[in-house]
Amino acid sequence: MESLCRQIKKYGFFRCLSLFWAHVFCPRIRSLLYRIFYKFSYLGANVSIGKNVSLHAPNMSIGDNVTIAENCVFDGIGGTVTIGSHTSIANNTTIMAIKEITIGRKCFIAPRCFFVDFNHIFSDRNLYIKDQYDYGEEQRTAKSIIIEDDCWLGANVIVLKGVTIGRGSVVGAGSLVTKSIPPFSVAAGVPAKIKYTR
Ligand SMILES: CC(C)(COP(=O)(O)OP(=O)(O)OC[C@H]1O[C@@H](n2cnc3c(N)ncnc32)[C@H](O)[C@@H]1OP(=O)(O)O)[C@@H](O)C(=O)NCCC(=O)NCCS
Repeated sequence: MESLCRQIKKYGFFRCLSLFWAHVFCPRIRSLLYRIFYKFSYLGANVSIGKNVSLHAPNMSIGDNVTIAENCVFDGIGGTVTIGSHTSIANNTTIMAIKEITIGRKCFIAPRCFFVDFNHIFSDRNLYIKDQYDYGEEQRTAKSIIIEDDCWLGANVIVLKGVTIGRGSVVGAGSLVTKSIPPFSVAAGVPAKIKYTR
């Protein structure tokens, strides 16, 4: 209560009210509406969902106290998407799963990260790549992405199929992760290489 009074004194009543409205009240109401209108495998308590979030994943499980900021897209086209409790996913992050994408507990996913667990088929050069589209084959060759607990992925990180990022790892901004990273690594670059171990 004391800290609330301090904040109101510092920023003014209407600014505090608008911050509360935008960042606490509306995301919680949105989460309530998602709970009513979407089918989740599990949707935890105190989940905060930002504006314009698109959740198309029938097998989706979101833990307690998860924050999903505005403009995120979770496209679980036949795959499972799991977000562990206390994880924060910043704005404009996209998850495309036809097999499995799991993000562990207490992770920080910075803005504009991109996770995709499959490739399109492009083996026949006499056909347009788009005409080789074969969902069954893509699903057969898809490989799970696992981000273990307590990881921090910087802004604009891309994670490709089959990657496991070990517990407590940090991935630098703008990195492209094509291979698994052992626990407590700090990795960065395109492709991401281990810079040092925490
Ligand atoms: C990964 C990161 C945390 C490392 O920070 P650090 O421990 O201070 O590491 P350093 O700056 O000493 O860099 C170590 C090495 O990695 C390289 N490096 C650091 N970040 C890099 C990145 N994003 N891409 C490529 N290389 C990177 C450095 O050039 C340096 O290389 P060198 O040893 O050859 O000189 C930081 O660089 C980073 O990318 N932070 C992400 C910020 C962000 O996205 N915030 C979003 C808000 S949630």
